[in-house]
Amino acid sequence: MAWAFHCTHPTLSRAQRSSSVRSTCRRLHRPPCPRPFSSLRMIAPPHSLPVSLDYRLVSETKEWQALMRHATEHIQRVHLRELMRDERRVQALRTEYDGVYLDFSRQRVTEETMRLLYALAERARLRDKIDALRAGKHVNSSENRAVLHTALRAARSDSLVVDGHDVVREVWRVLDHVRDFSERVRRGEHRGVTGKPLKNVIAVGIGGSYLGPDFAHEALRTDPVANETARGRHLYFLSNVDPVDAKRCTQDISAEETLVVVVSKSFTTSETLLNARTMREWLWRELGTAPEVVRQHMVACSSNPDMVASFGIDPQNAFELWDWVGGRYSVCSAVGALPLSIQYGFEVFESFLEGARSMDANFYDTSRPLLENLPVVMGLLGVWNMSFLGYPARAVHPYAEALLKFPAHIQQVDMESNGKHVTLRGDVVDYAVGEIDFGEPGTNGQHSFFQLLHMGQVVPCDFIGFIESQNPLCLEGEPVSNADELMANYFAQPDALAYGKTAEECRAEGRPEELIPHLVTTGNRPSLSLLLPRLNPYTTGQLLALYEHRTAVQGFIWDINSFDQWGVELGKTLAKRVRQQLNQSRYFGEAVSDHFNASTRELLERYLRGQVGCAFNDPFDYQRDVGTGRSTLQP
Ligand code: F6P
Repeated sequence: MAWAFHCTHPTLSRAQRSSSVRSTCRRLHRPPCPRPFSSLRMIAPPHSLPVSLDYRLVSETKEWQALMRHATEHIQRVHLRELMRDERRVQALRTEYDGVYLDFSRQRVTEETMRLLYALAERARLRDKIDALRAGKHVNSSENRAVLHTALRAARSDSLVVDGHDVVREVWRVLDHVRDFSERVRRGEHRGVTGKPLKNVIAVGIGGSYLGPDFAHEALRTDPVANETARGRHLYFLSNVDPVDAKRCTQDISAEETLVVVVSKSFTTSETLLNARTMREWLWRELGTAPEVVRQHMVACSSNPDMVASFGIDPQNAFELWDWVGGRYSVCSAVGALPLSIQYGFEVFESFLEGARSMDANFYDTSRPLLENLPVVMGLLGVWNMSFLGYPARAVHPYAEALLKFPAHIQQVDMESNGKHVTLRGDVVDYAVGEIDFGEPGTNGQHSFFQLLHMGQVVPCDFIGFIESQNPLCLEGEPVSNADELMANYFAQPDALAYGKTAEECRAEGRPEELIPHLVTTGNRPSLSLLLPRLNPYTTGQLLALYEHRTAVQGFIWDINSFDQWGVELGKTLAKRVRQQLNQSRYFGEAVSDHFNASTRELLERYLRGQVGCAFNDPFDYQRDVGTGRSTLQP
């Protein structure tokens, strides 16, 4: 195990404070550190790392420094307009796998940049890290866990033994359970307590237990096959603990025909559990409080079977997931499988898994040149844009309305994964990691924030387009089909960003001189274009896996843990204190504690003064029960 010493001396730079051995640390001090050795904090990774490196920070390597020089001496001096003139370069900066075509010629890179990035990848032992991920090594070192979301889409005939278990066999045991249950619901064999078929599903979950399934649902909703198999069925997502979300989910549907799927890996997430209790009260109110109501109308996806059972859900209707599936990587587990199979049928979901499996095969084929590995190319470009060109954000624009929730899902996948500040060994990084991700379907985004993308901050963009529309539509007399109109923008925007418009070009158009400065668009704004045949369950799976792995590649190069999320803990802990205060103030009249700072105190006091009462027994309009502070319907 590699140990490192970390000096806490405040006058040193971050890079100086950390060093691989204590003697080096003393040498670095100018003047010598006056602190005794006890101020040197010893840092070690909590668990051994599957791939060891011969450097402390990747920024110390000669490969990193070569890229730094290349950025300042070459790339920062050349405009994309010039780079795009070189047709040989343009042809070299494209790659394709299983129908997914990636053109990255509008990135601010040359073939030399890519060569240097591949050299960095070799130095960072990217292939070994990908192999370690695949083999189920504990790459999530701070939680000492394997990261095996790719096993969730392995073929039934595959086998992968990790920590003594064949995880693929376990995956298919649960998928078979999902298939069996979803078919019984769809055929009307599993019915509600009043004997009606269950045609509505409310999936209760948040974060990774919501965003992935919601994105996939939207992507499939207008696929002609999936649209047909979902006929007469409705899928809703209840994620926000805002009671308005619960109202919106339930106001137009009948409880008799509704199945609630509680999705929570931990089964401890406060928002999800309150929403699950809210749904349970709704069912009790509408259908009575007999135990069959919960047994017939509520099921769960979780890795915590005891909590599921104590909630009252029939253990037969609990669908398992494992600690080696991270929440944001769980859409291919029962988390997505159950609601999507009930809605669309298991075959449609299986096709989604097959698409993801195809991209996994591309990612895991480390024997092939890195240029042919789409997630690696995209990941390296992400590292380049952020750490070497200094662009802190990235936008994803699917030119497909059905991918409207894809940017939100990728936002969690990427920002929760790579929003870190230390390496796997705990050293503070001295380079930028973790992009700010956002996006909207084209062309809506163009009429919203593209002004800034063209003239304000530089934000590298991913353009995602499809050759065929899910809904081909041509109006007589129109010059192009509706899909061509959409795609005209998909083709135009990357060039507008790359080339911009010079003052001379504006003048040549006869624009008034005083307007010229306002019209000039600088260009030189990087983007990449992904073109796929058609958005269907298979390509939805491909896109998912492509973006999941792209994030992992960046994390591997940056040497951070892309699979933990300790940062969300603090907010949860503080919310607990506030929740307790709200309970004490509302039900027992206690003043706001002076443990809160003056700002929070004032905000809380105003909030408590203004809030209207609640009526228990009605989940949407609670009124306090002065005695117990509890709902009479709670068990
Ligand atoms: O708070 C963040 C998080 O832990 C995510 O990583 C996760 O996707 C989400 O909460 C929901 O967690 P769970 O599935 O355990 O309810």
